[in-house]
Amino acid sequence: RAAGQSVADLTGKHVLISAGGTREHLDPVRYLGNSSSGKQGYALARIAAARGAKVTLVAANSELPDPAGVQVVPVVSAQELYDEITGRAADADAIVMAAAVADFRPADVVEHKIKKTADGAVPAVNLVQNPDILHTISHDRARPDQIIVGFAAETGDADHTVLDLGRAKLERKGCDLLVVNDVSGGKVFGSDLNEAVILDRAGTALPVPSGSKDALSGVIWNLVATHWPTPRP
Ligand code: CTP
Ligand code: CA
Repeated sequence: RAAGQSVADLTGKHVLISAGGTREHLDPVRYLGNSSSGKQGYALARIAAARGAKVTLVAANSELPDPAGVQVVPVVSAQELYDEITGRAADADAIVMAAAVADFRPADVVEHKIKKTADGAVPAVNLVQNPDILHTISHDRARPDQIIVGFAAETGDADHTVLDLGRAKLERKGCDLLVVNDVSGGKVFGSDLNEAVILDRAGTALPVPSGSKDALSGVIWNLVATHWPTPRP
């Protein structure tokens, strides 16, 4: 099925999507962040709504306009995203973690703006690890019939291909589907195009050729729909 085609095949389903990139504040005006645009998560929300789903989009720091007919829940940090996703998981038939979640946050958030000192001393930033949202919702399922989708951007290295890393990540996270992007050479980030391989737990690797983020979204929802248990006649 072509992306965005107005077939209401997701009617009656509630999908929960995260998008954007989290910010981890150091003080009221400074943060550690990442350059995720939110485009892929917003595309997933728009396409799911067009296909009849009830859609909740937990959006971290995206500049994009709210998609029509979608409930948008704004968050800033990984901890806020964790709270919103875990708190809403029991209502969702599918959860897609498209957000770029900061792995670490500053151990202390300073209440007032950090100032330079006369002696030129440089402050140290101590980091602590954020909770792993995808791992938590996958290993501690709120519902047995729920399909959980993760994303992974990988470059591969001397010992591992992008697909090897994707397979290992799918296993570790415990999700049902993992959308793997090859980002070697600066591909994907902020782009309107996406190319991916979608892995499932049965060992299938579905290559999705370079296309729009809407088109990739359409393929993801098609796959999610095939993984939902078929209702008894
Ligand atoms: N993710 C998450 N919570 C985190 C980190 C990541 O839910 N604290 C989700 C992302 O939204 C994405 C998937 O996990 O769907 C994979 O993210 P990635 O950063 O590739 O995974 P990590 O386990 O953090 O591995 P790495 O060390 O490669 O960054
Ligand atoms: Ca990470």
